[in-house]
Amino acid sequence: MYHDFNYEATLASSLRAQWQLDDVLRPDEDLDFSRHFMPESLARTAALDSLNPFEQRILNQISAHQYLSIFGIVEEFILPFLMDHARDDLRDDDWRVRALLNFASEEAKHIHLFKRFHQAFVRGFPVECQVIGPSEDIGAEVLRHDPLAVGLVILMIEWMTQAHYLGTIRDDGDLDPLFKSLMRHHWMEEAQHAKLDTLIVEALAEGRTEPQIDRAIDEFFEIGAFLDEGLQMQAGFNLAALEKAIGREVDEKDSILAQQHQAARWTYLGSGMVHERFKATLSLLSPRAAERVAEAAPMFA
Ligand SMILES: [Fe+2]
Ligand SMILES: [Fe+2]
Repeated sequence: MYHDFNYEATLASSLRAQWQLDDVLRPDEDLDFSRHFMPESLARTAALDSLNPFEQRILNQISAHQYLSIFGIVEEFILPFLMDHARDDLRDDDWRVRALLNFASEEAKHIHLFKRFHQAFVRGFPVECQVIGPSEDIGAEVLRHDPLAVGLVILMIEWMTQAHYLGTIRDDGDLDPLFKSLMRHHWMEEAQHAKLDTLIVEALAEGRTEPQIDRAIDEFFEIGAFLDEGLQMQAGFNLAALEKAIGREVDEKDSILAQQHQAARWTYLGSGMVHERFKATLSLLSPRAAERVAEAAPMFA
């Protein structure tokens, strides 16, 4: 069977898995800056030979700052998307309304949690790290697209968080336990979001012809290219923060930039594009849609 997701069961699992902000990070809690924050499978800093281990760790932490910032940005456009989608039908299916509003409320909590981690990061890190934005503009650009294309981007994001957590378990390096806990708690709730988003995408695709689906996939790629541009710019900001933090200009700047941009492509785009569940939803929409995404995926590996 393709899936057995439904609103009632997903709401029940969501309510069982729910946690509070303080379960993950109290407002006064500090991150351990003597450790790595991101799993190597995402940060890819150990491969950078021109940096010494200390500098690699600083860049790993900057990559974690990027994680907090990028997820803050994407969850800020997921929230209005969900509100709009839920609003279309608030009467007929009580499980649907409750499941979607709970989903929205959890994303609002995640935004709050990422901000709290960001504050802890800023307290402990020696220099300021610049971030792309403003997030309102990024969100507006994404949300001006066909809701089906936006829904697919969000579905890709929900599934990728599952792969990210598995990366932290596989990582045998000494990750900061609080960051590991952030990934785990996010994974717990996102697992339900991915199911609900599958239902949302199916609802948005209903009754569409093959050319209409194809057009939505064009827009999916437009959003992907827009986000990818942001990731490239962010890689530049990250390198500037690294140089400020270590007090020297790095050698082989261009190759570090390209390598770190590629790491971000995998983290925020590729790891979702190749997720089996995401591919299954695409195949159901249209085999051609699945093919087009599969063809593009190696660029984001
Ligand atoms: Fe989230
Ligand atoms: Fe989510």
